[in-house]
Amino acid sequence: MKVSKLKSLLIRIFKKKGLTHKDALISTKALINAEMVGAYGHGLSRLKMYCDRISKKVINPKPKIKIKKISSSISHIDADDSIGFVAAEIAIKKAIDNAKKTGIALVAVKNSGHYGLSGYYAEQAVKKNMIAIIYTNAPPAVAPQGALKSLFGTNPICFGCPTNSKIPFILDTSISMINRGKIRVAARNNQKIPEGVALDKYGKPTVDPIKALEGVQLPIAGYRGSGLAWMVDILSGVLTGGNHAGKVKDPFDDFSGPQNIGHLFIVFKTNLFVNNFNERISDNIRIIKNLPKIKGIKNIFYPGENKFYRHKKNDKKNIIIKDNIMNDLKKLSENFQ
Ligand SMILES: NC(=O)c1ccc[n+]([C@@H]2O[C@H](COP(=O)([O-])OP(=O)(O)OC[C@H]3O[C@@H](n4cnc5c(N)ncnc54)[C@H](O)[C@@H]3O)[C@@H](O)[C@H]2O)c1
Repeated sequence: MKVSKLKSLLIRIFKKKGLTHKDALISTKALINAEMVGAYGHGLSRLKMYCDRISKKVINPKPKIKIKKISSSISHIDADDSIGFVAAEIAIKKAIDNAKKTGIALVAVKNSGHYGLSGYYAEQAVKKNMIAIIYTNAPPAVAPQGALKSLFGTNPICFGCPTNSKIPFILDTSISMINRGKIRVAARNNQKIPEGVALDKYGKPTVDPIKALEGVQLPIAGYRGSGLAWMVDILSGVLTGGNHAGKVKDPFDDFSGPQNIGHLFIVFKTNLFVNNFNERISDNIRIIKNLPKIKGIKNIFYPGENKFYRHKKNDKKNIIIKDNIMNDLKKLSENFQ
């Protein structure tokens, strides 16, 4: 489907669900961006889920979002159970504004929902020549080190930085060894999952996706990843007033109430300590890229380069929509005039 056609269709679907035109556009752009960078698990595959949550009144389509000024740098946003895209869009814009005035901004969000890709918001700050650090928590998927129960979300950690080139440095990584979606796909296709990514319900390592789904996913880098996931839960959940300690509801399965996800946005200028950041970052990247390479490796990429090139490649193409998602789109657009 052409991007322009998909864009107007999604806007109409979100508006039909009660979102304002502005919020429908924000949500549409975020979903299409996820498709363009190949993050399909955060793109159209989630559209029905957002719409179901609005229908079941656990996402508020017309939120009254409140921004509380704590200081010129610090703001606290109560997103009133809005769709996560809208809360995050307001938050990053507020963070950029605060940082422009004071050099550094800290913006916390509570009562939000799943907002997709952290890197999408970091890019906005980087375009303004600022550095962004962004955290969000998410529903239980990963077991804390030593636990036989999932509690942490895949809690992404995101760091965005200008590079003195048009390709931003965006490190945007979840803390789980593997996406839950990939385990679900392996289970459907009778495939094994890689070793070392999950335990069965008895705590034994497994490559059987069905046993993994009954058991727990493992964090990246063992106890270190578990610690990072915990840090994200503290910064985006405990600190902000959002849900934490495993209380964020699964958006697909649990309609018993809003998710109350928390996010934290830290944005600051690049010239706080040196007046030649651009020169220094160029040197830094050049030195690393010029290192001798392992056999078979032509380039050393910095984080974000892969998504930038994927977006560029997909820019001129139509978006390929799988049959099941096309069915969702058809159902959600029934009765359009
Ligand atoms: N909102 C949520 O609840 C939630 C939860 C989990 C993940 N996410 C999002 O999902 C997305 C995907 O996460 P992921 O962990 O699967 O990412 P990933 O494993 O695809 O990439 C992680 C990071 O590694 C970089 N990278 C990849 N290949 C590289 C290479 N060869 N050299 C150097 N760097 C390389 C990427 O640019 C990225 O910054 C992220 O955007 C994240 O924000 C969102």
